[in-house]
Amino acid sequence: MDRYLVFGHPVRHSKSPFIHTLFARQTQQELEYGLAEPVVDEFAQALRTFFDQGGKGCNVTVPFKEQAFTLVDRLSPRAKRAGAVNTIKLTDDGVLLGDNTDGAGLVADLKSHGVTLADSRILLLGAGGAARGALAPLLTELPSELVIANRTHTKAQQLAAEFHDLGPVTAQTYEQLAGPFDLVINSTSASLQGELPPLTPALIHTDIAIYDMMYGASDTAFISWAKQHGARQTMDGLGMLVEQAAEAFTVWRGIRPGTKQVLRELKRNLGVI
Ligand code: ATR
Repeated sequence: MDRYLVFGHPVRHSKSPFIHTLFARQTQQELEYGLAEPVVDEFAQALRTFFDQGGKGCNVTVPFKEQAFTLVDRLSPRAKRAGAVNTIKLTDDGVLLGDNTDGAGLVADLKSHGVTLADSRILLLGAGGAARGALAPLLTELPSELVIANRTHTKAQQLAAEFHDLGPVTAQTYEQLAGPFDLVINSTSASLQGELPPLTPALIHTDIAIYDMMYGASDTAFISWAKQHGARQTMDGLGMLVEQAAEAFTVWRGIRPGTKQVLRELKRNLGVI
């Protein structure tokens, strides 16, 4: 049977095996999908061993995405732009192809929620790996403006300069931000510590769409905060998780699984519904 897995550390609580097992059942593909949690300096060896022993493909998550970028034989254009690899496929001619499906997953999830990206004013909070992966796919949707704000402003400036060729992207400090924005995407890891990015509530209005790439069984700190200040449309990163997985599955198997039912089952599994 064709073997796939996700590399991460920690990875025990990953939902990827659950999601890909449902995709495989739905599309009648024969495969198994497991977990691998190598210690940080043994990732390269573990990756090699997996493919030497017949593995067909893998996902890569925190903290290995940047390292995976350096270990594959070939990079897709979107992985090259993202500077990170979350999906690896062993091609028929034995090449390890590194791809990145995170940004495509975000855009697919936004669209499935009916969020319009074309001609919209987007505020992206954070300038780490998650922000970098989102930039090219977001700019491809032709927003009128994309502003990056980050606690460490120089990182936002670097990122804006790097993606400037793809569209109207600028960096502003949190203090400089002036609305109205149509969509705010939180790519910071602040919610992990129950913290908030230092955003003024004056930017939140009833018609704004709020997206937090984080997710949990209950609202993230950022989503709770945005709701308190009047945002009606809030979305967490669970849909992005399922959509990036669907994109990876498509890369590996050449068949695109449906995501709606799988997202529903995942929510049930997490106790969200
Ligand atoms: P990831 O790969 O998930 O993007 P990362 O590269 O470590 O993780 O980036 C984390 C991002 O969250 C950074 O933009 C970080 O801001 P700094 O560049 O200033 O460190 C941001 N971040 C983390 N905690 C934050 C907080 N409490 N408030 C605001 N931004 C925060």
